[in-house]
Amino acid sequence: MKLYDNHQRPINYLRLAVTDRCNLRCFYCMPEEGIDYVARKELMTYEEMFRLVSLMTNMGIDKVRITGGEPFLRKDMMQFLHSISQLQDLKKINITTNGTLTEPLIPELKKMGIHSVNLSLDTLNRERFFEITRRDSLPTVLRTLESLLQYEITTKINAVVMEGKNTDDLIDMVELTKNHPVGVRFIEEMPFNGTGAHYQNLQWNHIKILQHLQDHYPNLQKLPDPPSSTAANYQIPGYKGTVGIIAAYSRTFCGTCNRIRITPKGMLHTCLYDGGVFNFKKIMRSGATDLQLKTTLLEALGNRAKNGFEAEQRRFAGAPVTESMATIGG
Ligand code: 5AD
Ligand code: SF4
Repeated sequence: MKLYDNHQRPINYLRLAVTDRCNLRCFYCMPEEGIDYVARKELMTYEEMFRLVSLMTNMGIDKVRITGGEPFLRKDMMQFLHSISQLQDLKKINITTNGTLTEPLIPELKKMGIHSVNLSLDTLNRERFFEITRRDSLPTVLRTLESLLQYEITTKINAVVMEGKNTDDLIDMVELTKNHPVGVRFIEEMPFNGTGAHYQNLQWNHIKILQHLQDHYPNLQKLPDPPSSTAANYQIPGYKGTVGIIAAYSRTFCGTCNRIRITPKGMLHTCLYDGGVFNFKKIMRSGATDLQLKTTLLEALGNRAKNGFEAEQRRFAGAPVTESMATIGG
């Protein structure tokens, strides 16, 4: 079975944020004091999340990304992963993590058949890591990276490019791809940090990032991008890994967007930039049947904004996005 939206885009990918809590305080995601975390009873339970994932895999979703906040801060996360790994029609389970708690779990993730792990890592410089995340965890995160590679789990590194913070570090990060089969992806900074944009006009957009890479690597080669890829992918000839640029703010990839998101509170977003379409948890807790849940999802997909700009405009009074990425799910 296939799911489509009102713009004939196939939808097969669910991003499920399991918690908004985090043990880091990345500057582009949260203020130093953190955000007002969702009360535990407001979070969807594992049973509720399992019900949604299971129902959606019957409708054509075959790929799920578990994200947050930091997913491994949620108790019994491994059990939940195990339970969804048993779902027949779910072909890929991916995880986005900050890598601070992940290393001891890697053998089990491998055994479960987790398809890939995205590590959020913006610099290889310890002081800068501290400046950006307000925690001194780089050595721990690097151990996670090493272990992921050792266990041959497909690994991508997500680095948010921040003017005046880590733009001097991008080339060092590209060099990781020389000997390791990792995908290093540079992401435009979005104004999702709990307060609003750090910039008037985004200077380090995808064009400038590409220019910067080409200045250092004149032989940078464009690779074909997989369908619905948000990244434009490149490689330095002879290097084992790849480099990607994600125009998350410029929104150049909406035309092939195949994804929906569910927040820790159960809110469905059909676009990262929308204000939330309806709350699954609420309707589940008021007794919705599977059929009602499915119908509600189909209705939402029938009214999906055509791109991130339209989604943003449709928000209440066109208010721009300011909430933390940790509440939406990166
Ligand atoms: N802009 C761009 N990317 C962000 N992320 C978090 N906040 C932002 C932001 N403001 C990314 C992180 C992480 C993922 C969860 O979301 O890099 O990899
Ligand atoms: Fe935590 Fe990720 Fe937000 Fe950083 S970006 S504070 S690691 S949720």
